[in-house]
Amino acid sequence: MELSRKNLGIAASLTLEIDAKAKRMKSQGMDIIGFGAGEPDFATPSYIIEAAKEALDKGYTRYTPSSGIIELRQSICHKLLRDNKVSYEPNEILVSNGAKHSLYNIFQAILNPGDEVIIPLPYWVSYPEMVKMADGIPVFVDTLEEENFGMNLDNLKEAITSRTKAIIINSPNNPSGCVYSREQLEGIAQLALEHNFFIVSDEIYEELLYEGAQHLSVASLDPQVRDITLLVNGMSKAYAMTGWRIGYTAGNSKIIDVMANIQSHATSNPNSIAQYASLAALNGPKDIIKDMVSQFDSRRRFMVDRINSIDGISCTTPQGAFYVMMNINDILNRMHNGRVLGGSLDFADALLESKNVAVVPGIAFGADGYVRLSYATSKENIEEGLNRIESFVKELI
Ligand SMILES: Cc1ncc(COP(=O)(O)O)c(C=O)c1O
Repeated sequence: MELSRKNLGIAASLTLEIDAKAKRMKSQGMDIIGFGAGEPDFATPSYIIEAAKEALDKGYTRYTPSSGIIELRQSICHKLLRDNKVSYEPNEILVSNGAKHSLYNIFQAILNPGDEVIIPLPYWVSYPEMVKMADGIPVFVDTLEEENFGMNLDNLKEAITSRTKAIIINSPNNPSGCVYSREQLEGIAQLALEHNFFIVSDEIYEELLYEGAQHLSVASLDPQVRDITLLVNGMSKAYAMTGWRIGYTAGNSKIIDVMANIQSHATSNPNSIAQYASLAALNGPKDIIKDMVSQFDSRRRFMVDRINSIDGISCTTPQGAFYVMMNINDILNRMHNGRVLGGSLDFADALLESKNVAVVPGIAFGADGYVRLSYATSKENIEEGLNRIESFVKELI
């Protein structure tokens, strides 16, 4: 029998696939260095785990309101006002099963067939597929490594058409680590207001900033911008809570209501225990995040310096998140063990097979001249992995 034509065209998540492959090889006893991780390598802080245990003991094991418990939605409002300087009411918040689910709900709620969504390159792997799942059309906008992959407003203007329904901005960015400046955000917001499209602002890496980089929520620019913005955030990256699956959207209540209706039929409430744990996380101490950021920072600097010390590959210095985009353009089309490295997939495959090092091919992010390395792994692993990458590059002919 024929399956859904629309969904047969949806690609698997390459990043999750590569991470799974590396984990599988490791479990078979192979000495794998994994640079594929999309999650902090730290444990969830103990005060959050305690809150989850307490929720279990108190019997918070039943359905909650589909949009999330009111206490959590209130705490999210409090956090958004405190950290992001934007004011929301609890009926403007929807708690979902991870920020990924929040984004999925958004595109289901705002898109009609043929609507275009602008996605800057390089992009997080799931954006184009989510847009397609909602019958939308992804439209890509180029950015330049020389401009730290920041938004180029001229390129953005060229991409806008009468069918533009939204733009996705992701700052700090996965995979480039770019953090948008106030000027860039103001430029995007002005174009969105002029041309009447939504801003989907994925702020999941907001806490992971280096060298004084500042995170600015585009919704905080002014009330009109707030009204066309859907702000997405979650617990995964800031609190090392990837497995707990809690994310949220803040936005105009008319859109939130549509998203809440979709969610109420698709999944009902996010896990009740994880919601109580998230409540504790948002109201708890922030020094744990600071410790994590300082470790990421030292690994980041080490990784950047080491990559730039290897002939043939290079990278710019990311300002946020925990990834480095390693430029492999100069070594593409060279040979390793008789195999031509025609693109980032060949590079990643040959590296994994010959040196047991897992990286994510840039093609997953629409940037085939790059591979992404995550520094959410120990310094020892980074050192050993980059030694192996150096020896791989030296073997190229
Ligand atoms: C840019 C970006 N947005 C959203 C997510 C989803 O996060 P989660 O669903 O774990 O909250 C991720 C996870 O890797 C991400 O990198």
